[in-house]
Amino acid sequence: MFRILVGVSGASGMPLARQILTGLKALPDVESHCVVSDGAKKVLEAECSSGPEALTDLADCAYAPEDFAAGPASGSWWRARNTAMLVVPCSMSTLGTLAGGCARNLIHRAGDVALKEGLPLVLVTRETPLSLVHLRNMVVLREAGAVIMPFSPGFYTLPQTLEDMLRHFCGRIFDQLGLQHACPRWAGVKK
Ligand SMILES: Cc1cc2nc3c(=O)[nH]c(=O)nc-3n(C[C@H](O)[C@H](O)[C@H](O)COP(=O)(O)O)c2cc1C
Repeated sequence: MFRILVGVSGASGMPLARQILTGLKALPDVESHCVVSDGAKKVLEAECSSGPEALTDLADCAYAPEDFAAGPASGSWWRARNTAMLVVPCSMSTLGTLAGGCARNLIHRAGDVALKEGLPLVLVTRETPLSLVHLRNMVVLREAGAVIMPFSPGFYTLPQTLEDMLRHFCGRIFDQLGLQHACPRWAGVKK
């Protein structure tokens, strides 16, 4: 049984967060947990015309972003099960806060815990172009053990729709978390 904590921060890319939570819901051996930041609520409204329930209703368990007393704020909660964390999409503000180590919400605190416990933390960043500050924050977090995974859709699967692109990238993220998926993989050029 895997436990995946999905932190949704206020960057562009809410359809990807929805795709991930939908994918996790379909996996019988995964318990999904979700935190939607206040910034993410604004972006959800702009990109999906919906409130946080559009995401939290897909998870087995959801927490308020200001709830520092929630389970994911403690290393002992993480250690009780095979737990990993994903921040999707990851804003530059959340990235910077994680790199600085001073938690202002539950996503930051849980990310801090993942790093201190040496447990998987995948950050699906969304910004372009990247400033030197963003790049340095990424280096800090990579050195601390996080996987930095900018949303970079693949074209080699010949996607026909946005849904195809999201599903494929969702598979790439699941690979990082050690989760099974049926998304297409590159199998080499056929001669
Ligand atoms: C529609 C919209 C799109 C945004 N897209 C991005 C983005 O792609 N990347 C980013 O770093 N910030 C983006 N922002 C700004 C963040 O939402 C803002 O920095 C916020 O404070 C992030 O807070 P959080 O990281 O706690 O969720 C966007 C804001 C809005 C309203």
